[in-house]
Amino acid sequence: MTVTIGLLGAGRIGLTHARALAGIPSARLAAIADPSDAAAQAVIDLTDARRSEVDEIIADPAIDAVIIATPTDLHAGQVEQAARAGKAIFCEKPIDLDIDRVRSCLKVVAETGARLMVGFNRRFDREFRALRAHIKAGAVGEIEMIQLVSRDHAPPPIGFIKRSGGLFRDMMIHDLDMARFLMGEEFVEVFAMGSVLIDPEIGAAGDVDTATATLKTASGRIAVITTNRRSPYGHDQRAEVHRSKGMVSIGNMRATSVTLANGGGFHTEQLLISFMDRYVEAYRRELTALVMAVESGGPFSPTGEDGLRALELADAAVRSMESGMVVRL
Ligand SMILES: NC(=O)c1ccc[n+]([C@@H]2O[C@H](COP(=O)([O-])OP(=O)(O)OC[C@H]3O[C@@H](n4cnc5c(N)ncnc54)[C@H](O)[C@@H]3O)[C@@H](O)[C@H]2O)c1
Repeated sequence: MTVTIGLLGAGRIGLTHARALAGIPSARLAAIADPSDAAAQAVIDLTDARRSEVDEIIADPAIDAVIIATPTDLHAGQVEQAARAGKAIFCEKPIDLDIDRVRSCLKVVAETGARLMVGFNRRFDREFRALRAHIKAGAVGEIEMIQLVSRDHAPPPIGFIKRSGGLFRDMMIHDLDMARFLMGEEFVEVFAMGSVLIDPEIGAAGDVDTATATLKTASGRIAVITTNRRSPYGHDQRAEVHRSKGMVSIGNMRATSVTLANGGGFHTEQLLISFMDRYVEAYRRELTALVMAVESGGPFSPTGEDGLRALELADAAVRSMESGMVVRL
């Protein structure tokens, strides 16, 4: 079976998804909707997709699944529209910035029986999956602490930041989801701090660019997340899971593992620069999972509920940063 797909939004991530689909033999990107001629053309140039409109794609009976990669404020309405039209749905994170809007959207998804997958691509990354497999296998005992380091090479354009919902809901939401994914137990307490240390314009937009969040589960297990929007040495993504009998960790990725040793020390290539390079394979595996689930009728994961839980944690982190208090969920 070939799964026929319509793409809504062909910006940074929409184009990444179009590229990923081009490498999945059982997927066909049939149509693309984006008001930007340049963005739409970039997708048409690498696929045989036709240019279309959002309403037309969602109403098209020949389309099995829609990928929603539009700006965040359009997601919930488009998810609901696609759910009512009986489409399989992939929606980029976050589903919405307003938690009540996410809940009302998921209600429509449940009522229509639609299947929804949310774009937490890191769950499909080979390194993070291997880390989780070690945890599941139980080789090093029960989790006590998780530490996640997550730094972008450089901040996105200020125009994006203004619409993004802020560092916690836009960027750290990936780490909050990963902390849930690895811990396997829900968090009940959140304490967060944030500062503007990179770009005053980010502060003027009402956001922070440097933040930490500490989260605790009911059984006392702790996760610490460190995030910022600048890392001169590349996209810095590390994780360490400390356990009763040992520790499992994953480090950063480089284009090659070549190491030059000389009198000045050991020299390696710099880290992969952007999240799109670091997670290129994860994006492909994510959409491969989507296509396989559409083909087989199997479950979609991560679910809308996962999207809701991660946003709840992001909201709690914002409340904690603003109040200086621990927030209990
Ligand atoms: N999972 C990830 O790693 C990841 C990475 C980046 C962005 N995102 C998420 O993806 C979404 C898009 O982010 P982006 O960085 O690609 O933004 P972007 O601004 O680069 O792209 C958005 C695109 O949507 C188009 N668009 C606007 N209105 C539209 C409409 N009514 N119908 C169809 N298209 C429309 C724009 O013209 C633009 O091309 C955001 O929700 C963001 O949080 C996720």
